[in-house]
Amino acid sequence: MAVRGQFSNRLGFIMAAAGSAVGLGNIWKFPFEVGQGGGAVFVVMYLIFCFLLCLPVMVTEIAIGRKTQRNPVGAFNALGYKKWNFVGKLGIISGILILSFYNVVAAWAFGYVFEMVMGNFDIGNHFTAYTSDIFKISIYAVVFMVATAYIVSQGVSKGIERATKIMMPTLIVIILFLVIYSLTKEGSLEGLKFYFQPDFSEINGKVIYGALGQAFFSLSLGMGALITYGSYFSKKDNITTSASIITLMDVGIALIAGLMMFPFVSFMVHNNPQLISSLIESKADVAAIVAANPGMSNLEIFLLPEAGNSGAGLIFATLPTAFESMGAFGNVLGAIFFLLLSFAALTSTVSLLEVPVAYVVDEKGYKRSRAVWLMAGIIFLIGIPSMLSGGYSAFFSDFITYYHAEKSTGFLSFISDTASDTFLPLGGFLITVFAAYVWKKENLQAELAIGAPGFEGSLVSKYISFAVTVLCPLILGLIFVLTVLGKFFGVEVFG
Ligand code: PFF
Repeated sequence: MAVRGQFSNRLGFIMAAAGSAVGLGNIWKFPFEVGQGGGAVFVVMYLIFCFLLCLPVMVTEIAIGRKTQRNPVGAFNALGYKKWNFVGKLGIISGILILSFYNVVAAWAFGYVFEMVMGNFDIGNHFTAYTSDIFKISIYAVVFMVATAYIVSQGVSKGIERATKIMMPTLIVIILFLVIYSLTKEGSLEGLKFYFQPDFSEINGKVIYGALGQAFFSLSLGMGALITYGSYFSKKDNITTSASIITLMDVGIALIAGLMMFPFVSFMVHNNPQLISSLIESKADVAAIVAANPGMSNLEIFLLPEAGNSGAGLIFATLPTAFESMGAFGNVLGAIFFLLLSFAALTSTVSLLEVPVAYVVDEKGYKRSRAVWLMAGIIFLIGIPSMLSGGYSAFFSDFITYYHAEKSTGFLSFISDTASDTFLPLGGFLITVFAAYVWKKENLQAELAIGAPGFEGSLVSKYISFAVTVLCPLILGLIFVLTVLGKFFGVEVFG
């Protein structure tokens, strides 16, 4: 086996893992999941899942990676449990599927850099026309996949660390600026309320599995990305502390992305009351919901899943309006924002590609560069139906109607529902069951104690043990069943 790369130091690892975690999941997906999940209740569930369930899963993944120094399949083999390497294989399949659609959304974001430069702020109203422009989108998508492959072919530490160290802080500064700006806008308060004031009567199965899927996706968990990155992690460093920092950073960025988005959305709705009346007129199901719930605010009506505004187009529709309101400065800021968003996406696509690449390099003996370009090509091809599902092809845009569902689901969302909302929590469940009962929790604890003075016997160590042996297997297993029944078969256990 080739000598493995290693991150140059702890900061390097944290930056790379945080680069994997922070991406479209935080800035594009989180706000629209919150919008569809009814606002603050979703946020509360998401936070609970991230810290109580996901953090222990993250620690376990990094520990398995560092212990074995392998890819997700090789890791199970190296521990002596070949039968369990199907968990790694499931992870690799999840990674391939996720990257196939993620690259398409990244291409949309990348294309927006040029649209903002040109001052095409009206694009939010023509988002489907934009995503249907297959000529343009496919060029952006090729550029994006090639950039990803190039960085991965350069090896972990060089390419990934360097890109992350500069981009991420800049992105945070811009988002914070947008947060402050959005709060000065008229009508923004309603957005804040929607985001921060939970109405617990709204909790249902959909909110629960949506929040869990989002937590796994956002933290890059459940598919062995962190087993792979953990395999480059040094024995001198503290896994638990590093994982906590990564989780805090990721959650923090998602939270400020929401803080930027909802005040803007409510500003938009506030300034355009006609939007709501025409929405009610044009959509019978929205009208029915509004009639049945007289207390609904305009913002809530606008974000109803039935209204179709809170879906995948949310940031792409709302932000251009916000940039437009800034005058000439809006062009520059808009372009920089989408450029940095593209970079954030790039550090995530890199980690997604790294997983199958590490697998074929370690297990099949491929040369790194050959593995990279082969995988990138295959994944690009798998992503073509997702690209066509943005409106260009009616077949892929209305790909499937789940049992009992009223609306059809496009190919891109179908892959996201399957790979990220279903496979990732399943992967997390299997990884914790494996660590607790097959590999044994004592071995996990021993690995976590390396590079972590004071860990043994600490409260943190006890909590991780409890989470990995009881909490995660139980709750992740339960929610997995709930997700499959609810999402694909329309059976809502919680009404
Ligand atoms: N965490 C990334 C995001 O939030 O955009 C997406 C992702 C990257 C998921 C890597 C899974 C993964 F392995």
